[in-house]
Amino acid sequence: MYLTREEEKILDGERGEAASLALRVVVKVGEALGAERLIPIVHAHVSGISYNNIGEPGLRLIERLAGMGAKASVYATVNPIGMDSDNWQAMGIDRGFAEKQLRALRALRTMGFELALTCTPYYLRRPRLGEHLAWGESSAVAYANTVYGAKTNREGGPLALMAAIVGRTYLAGMHLEENRRPSLLVDVSGAGISDSTSAGLLGGLLGELAGEGVPYISGVPSWREDWVKELCAAAGALGSLAMCLIEGVSPEAARYGRELPGLEKVEVGRAELLSVKERLSGGEEPDLLYLGCPHASLEELAMLAKLLEGRGKVRREFWVGVSRGIFLKALEHGLVEKLQNHGVKVWRDTCPVVAPLGGRGFKVVATNSVKAAFYLPRMHGVKAIVAGIEEMVEYAYSG
Ligand code: F3S
Repeated sequence: MYLTREEEKILDGERGEAASLALRVVVKVGEALGAERLIPIVHAHVSGISYNNIGEPGLRLIERLAGMGAKASVYATVNPIGMDSDNWQAMGIDRGFAEKQLRALRALRTMGFELALTCTPYYLRRPRLGEHLAWGESSAVAYANTVYGAKTNREGGPLALMAAIVGRTYLAGMHLEENRRPSLLVDVSGAGISDSTSAGLLGGLLGELAGEGVPYISGVPSWREDWVKELCAAAGALGSLAMCLIEGVSPEAARYGRELPGLEKVEVGRAELLSVKERLSGGEEPDLLYLGCPHASLEELAMLAKLLEGRGKVRREFWVGVSRGIFLKALEHGLVEKLQNHGVKVWRDTCPVVAPLGGRGFKVVATNSVKAAFYLPRMHGVKAIVAGIEEMVEYAYSG
């Protein structure tokens, strides 16, 4: 791989042992993928830092890098962890777990990472068209490529960490224009996309249909941000999709008008979406309701608060997951108080997928998120129910 003089110097240790190691790793991966050179990035986002997922080996790696003096050289943020870092006792997290998780956070802070602890880094800093990122977290990757036209591959957590340290990634995959062209035309005008859950079910289907290609989606007159968020999350979870082109949403979609007639075309209707829902849903009576995969937006919190208005305390455990940034805004708008008055628990920094749910004894989780419904049974052995937000509220007051 071609390296600039500056990159040669980093490799030779001029910026320290950690930067040299990080550059070696990024170059090795890039070479394996056929990249000819590196490119500067403006934002790295590191996933996979819940102690529940990384365990001792991951914690050792993070602490070792911090001990070597590693520093993030670009704006760098971090995904959710296994607990609300202020309120972990209330979540039922045991002290041993919390101490290890907090050690990982201390090491990341020492290295200069912003402890955003969210899978929605785009709510903190909106990526710009054409800029290069190195993001872990498949839902955020698909969202950045699809909605903003920013360029990022689906990086693994450790690789995003290395990219943050050297401020570079390899020029391959979604950083190249030729890999961002539509590969499949998907007409969803008959699918009745009308909320975040139906959009998530479409995402799940696209993940299975499109492989590593880029589906071009038409047939929805107007999209809401939260629908696209759920679509991207599901597509990244049920498949390896890194980007969609959505008519009326994706800034790059308009470029491809002339190429579309030559593409293979698929029509998706209601029945296909329902088959995804049926495959993912396995339980009947939920003992946990969860909203916030990916982390909830202010609009979603407001929608939930409105649906709860005039009703009393929820009768089932109801959790909402948000970033710290959205939590503060929700506090200002009085939304946290409203939700808490109804008995809803608003957690920051975490979600049930990456938290150690085991000790809580939940058996069935109902969620509006297709991604969460896919992972919860795999990570925690619980059953899932895919339910729209209105349906979740009905569960909350039934039983
Ligand atoms: Fe975020 Fe957890 Fe879902 S990290 S995307 S809320 S699985």
